[in-house]
Amino acid sequence: MPTDSNASQNKKPSQGKRLWNKAFKAIKSGETTFEEPLHLFSGEEHADPVIHKSGGRYVDCGGQRLLIFNFVGRQFCSEDLSSVDNTGNARLWLSEECLAYYIVKQATSQAFYTKFVNKRILELGSGKTGLAGLCAASYTGTSVHITDGNAKAVENVQRIIAENGLKNVQSYLLDWSKPPNTVSKFDVIIASDCVYFERYHCIIDCIDQMLTDMGTVYMAAPYRKGSLEKFLLKIDRKNWEYVLIENPVWNATIQAMQTEARENGVMSDFDDDLHLPKLVILRRVIRQCTLQIEECLKPTNRMPKRESTRVKQRTQRVLIRPQKAIVDKRISPLLC
Ligand SMILES: C[S@@+](CC[C@H](N)C(=O)[O-])C[C@H]1O[C@@H](n2cnc3c(N)ncnc32)[C@H](O)[C@@H]1O
Repeated sequence: MPTDSNASQNKKPSQGKRLWNKAFKAIKSGETTFEEPLHLFSGEEHADPVIHKSGGRYVDCGGQRLLIFNFVGRQFCSEDLSSVDNTGNARLWLSEECLAYYIVKQATSQAFYTKFVNKRILELGSGKTGLAGLCAASYTGTSVHITDGNAKAVENVQRIIAENGLKNVQSYLLDWSKPPNTVSKFDVIIASDCVYFERYHCIIDCIDQMLTDMGTVYMAAPYRKGSLEKFLLKIDRKNWEYVLIENPVWNATIQAMQTEARENGVMSDFDDDLHLPKLVILRRVIRQCTLQIEECLKPTNRMPKRESTRVKQRTQRVLIRPQKAIVDKRISPLLC
């Protein structure tokens, strides 16, 4: 009979762990051509062998052609690997591609103008490409800030921005636990695969600080072992309202790709719970207020002086009565 320790030795690592080990080994060795299993965007590989070796490829997102790559000519030292979270350097996660896809698919619609055009856009936890932020930038032409807490990821995004000549985008370090108060607030915040670990949940405080009152947040993340629900349960429903879209625009495309792979006899280790992102749209609860002048008492000459002053003050006091939250009316037009 196997002992407990034998049993744990024989236990196969989970699928997520295997993927993570593979990606981590790849960035450690500087070999960044490791397979990123599913691509929502087609595009030719880069002709330059150095860029090609670093996973460089073009992303054809509906006419816009963006070049993305991984750490061309850069090596990771042990400090890089042990410091800030490296999950965004390990690979371009499907959630990021899905959020980019969401933006691109809407780019010609009226809804797109309402949601993204002329808005200040912030991407949090962009990872090494910030693909969703790049797509937003190339379609809106408005100011987009792509940020991450990991210096290597930011460095790579900065090089991608320069390579694509995108003038309206900037990338810098932004740690969710220390959001800057020197940057103006944003109308739109996007984030993908940024709620998996409990230590990531401080992202909601960062959003609170960086989002304008009427702003909107778009997040993509898979359920992944209940982690998305755990995050949503943490959100204070008095101040935030959200909708969880289980069947977002990218679902059909991913399903078609899986069917095609199966028909071609390609074994897929795609697991909906671990990999298939959902879309969360989040906004502040805004309460309509009515102003009411409190009873207007007029001071009279017969009142003692002290009383007359008190009455004057009361005359000027206003009552602000919060009314029914109107957030539902604000979120529903965004669901298309
Ligand atoms: C799973 S990765 C997702 C990366 C990218 N959005 C994607 O989907 O490919 C999570 C990202 O969050 C970033 N991150 C984690 N904790 C952070 C923090 N406290 N502040 C800022 N970024 C953080 C990591 O550096 C990483 O790039």
